Amino acid sequence: MRFKDKIVWITGASSGIGEATAFAFIEQGATVIASSSSAEKLEISKAKAPKPEQFNTVPLDLGQADTIESIVKQTLEQFGRVDILINNAGISQRSLVLDTPITNDRKVMEIDYFGTIILTKAILPQMIRQGGGHILCTSSIVGVFGFPLRSAYSAAKHALHGFFESLRLEYYKQNIKVGIIIGGRINTAISMNAITSDGSAYGKLDDGQKNGINSEKAARQILRGIRKNKREIRVGGKELLMVTLKRRFPRLHFFMAKRVKAT
Ligand SMILES: NC(=O)c1ccc[n+]([C@@H]2O[C@H](COP(=O)([O-])OP(=O)(O)OC[C@H]3O[C@@H](n4cnc5c(N)ncnc54)[C@H](OP(=O)(O)O)[C@@H]3O)[C@@H](O)[C@H]2O)c1
Repeated sequence: MRFKDKIVWITGASSGIGEATAFAFIEQGATVIASSSSAEKLEISKAKAPKPEQFNTVPLDLGQADTIESIVKQTLEQFGRVDILINNAGISQRSLVLDTPITNDRKVMEIDYFGTIILTKAILPQMIRQGGGHILCTSSIVGVFGFPLRSAYSAAKHALHGFFESLRLEYYKQNIKVGIIIGGRINTAISMNAITSDGSAYGKLDDGQKNGINSEKAARQILRGIRKNKREIRVGGKELLMVTLKRRFPRLHFFMAKRVKAT
């Protein structure tokens, strides 16, 4: 019960990593505020939760920027505080740069970046008032390096690093802890829901995800990282080595990344 009585707000809690992380927090005694854009999917997740009464659904579409602040206000009135915010929701993309209309670049940026920072800015003042809090975002290995077919997604994840590293440096004196989760390959629906050139869902499970770790293991790695207040929480398998390669040996990284299958 390492997170007993903590209030944890998780976006993207209707599937994959977010759902598994929400369930893991409930197992550890936390009360979860579970968000995603779909009220129906959240209800399905709630029914599967270890203690459904601890899985509190708050539908919130990160692509609808002008609705976020009022949802935060109502939710804070209801729960009083948020100890941990996990900005986990996101969508990916599968299309070459020249096949990606700018509307798709903007869509990915609106959900993965702008929605996330609007939510964070809306909750931060309450965390400061209550004496501190822990804020995380789920980035990716492609938030550290670019990768084919993911220009918009990779750009949005890179942007998260700039924002959350700045946030950490600005508010550490107010006891605001900030962690960036770097996801490798996790077996979820992320590639199925990725948007293609014409805006439709890609609909396939990439080999990378198929062979990745499962969401439950990812959730365990995330909770361990949060407990240890890690600034960077790496989640996945051997593909995480590419992060170290990119930072220490960029030429070798380029040589290897060219050979990795993109789907
Ligand atoms: N799986 C991987 O290999 C991997 C690797 C690195 C990073 N990640 C990151 O991990 C995070 C979770 O993804 P996942 O792998 O668990 O995939 P997933 O199963 O597709 O989960 C994505 C979650 O985001 C929510 N979401 C999508 N659009 C939203 C919107 N407009 N507003 C609010 N919520 C929205 C989805 O819920 P609704 O559809 O109900 O809105 C869903 O709960 C993402 O940020 C992803 O980029 C994943």
